[in-house]
Amino acid sequence: LSGAGHDAALWLRLPPGAGREARFPAAWLRDNCPCPQCRDPVTGQRLLDLAAAPDARLAEVAIRDGEVAVTFGPDGHRSVFPRAWLAAHALDAPAPAGPRAEDGKALWTAAGLARVPAAGWARYAADDAVRAGVLEAVLARGAAVLHGVPAVPGMVTAVAATLGYVRETNYGRLFDVRAGPRPANLASTCREIGPHTDNPYRDPVPTVQLLHCLRDAADGGDTLLTDGFAAAAALRERDPRSFQVLTATPWPFGYQDAVTELRACQPLIGTDPCGRIREVRFNARSMLPLRGPAGQVAAAYAAYLAWARLLRGPGLAVRLRLAPGDCLILDNTRILHARTAFTVPGGSADADSAGGGRHLQGCYADLDGMESTLAVLRRAAAGGP
Ligand code: FE2
Repeated sequence: LSGAGHDAALWLRLPPGAGREARFPAAWLRDNCPCPQCRDPVTGQRLLDLAAAPDARLAEVAIRDGEVAVTFGPDGHRSVFPRAWLAAHALDAPAPAGPRAEDGKALWTAAGLARVPAAGWARYAADDAVRAGVLEAVLARGAAVLHGVPAVPGMVTAVAATLGYVRETNYGRLFDVRAGPRPANLASTCREIGPHTDNPYRDPVPTVQLLHCLRDAADGGDTLLTDGFAAAAALRERDPRSFQVLTATPWPFGYQDAVTELRACQPLIGTDPCGRIREVRFNARSMLPLRGPAGQVAAAYAAYLAWARLLRGPGLAVRLRLAPGDCLILDNTRILHARTAFTVPGGSADADSAGGGRHLQGCYADLDGMESTLAVLRRAAAGGP
């Protein structure tokens, strides 16, 4: 034991007799009491209302048989912690890398990524290990392709259900990407579309996007993918001032049509509290006029242009061609996607009346659901419940 009052802490040698000493503050120990009064034995959820309990201090500690029994003052509450549990939760142990921030990822450029990770749909659907491998690839590299997904309308939502939950939006549970008459969106033309993330005008953005190819174009319509985390890390290296400005400048985005009006305002590069890259959003089509003191706006534009020029520079984007049955799964907080211009049959933009043409179906899902699916698959593979 050391200290007194709020500063009181338990010092333990972990493992017994070893040189390493771990320190556990009294409030932390009280909050993590595993007794059935403090934690529901069935759900494992906390019952204790720490704020309603008296400020904990350590009154007595007894160590025996792999257990540490702590009696707290002033109320005499007693907690018994398995020593192995304390060892596993030692405060100075390195925290596991968060699943979102850059340090848990394998960043890549086109030169470093031989090909986008891929698997066949039949094996993915039948074999949990293959599915876990694909989800791991999406989390580590930001993208994966499933080949041989039946090229039938609506199938993209069935793929989403294998990794998490469809995020329904104003575009519906799924949306069609094909050239048509009177397009409401540039996606519904046969024009080139530059690198972008989807829906930056939402808060939160959909964090996973799926794109399923039902028909490909006779000519053009290739897909380009860029690792936005690798690009942001390169900007931080080459132009730290621009990086800093982009992480600190909320930029307004918007979308509207007859029945929808969406607005969001977030930095183009988002960092976590430790300053690590956590998300990028980039979509010139839906940026709204930036406001603020003129000097700051000018600095923000200088940073934005540095970022935009870096993103379209050589060597970053990997190019692939989606064939009918291919379903691309993207981390929409990280990977920018683009497409080349394509031709439509007969030269008409009215794909339906022309009887064909490039047709993708997309839907959104979220990374938290995908991380959960992967964690459960790993738990089952390890023989857990
Ligand atoms: Fe898009």
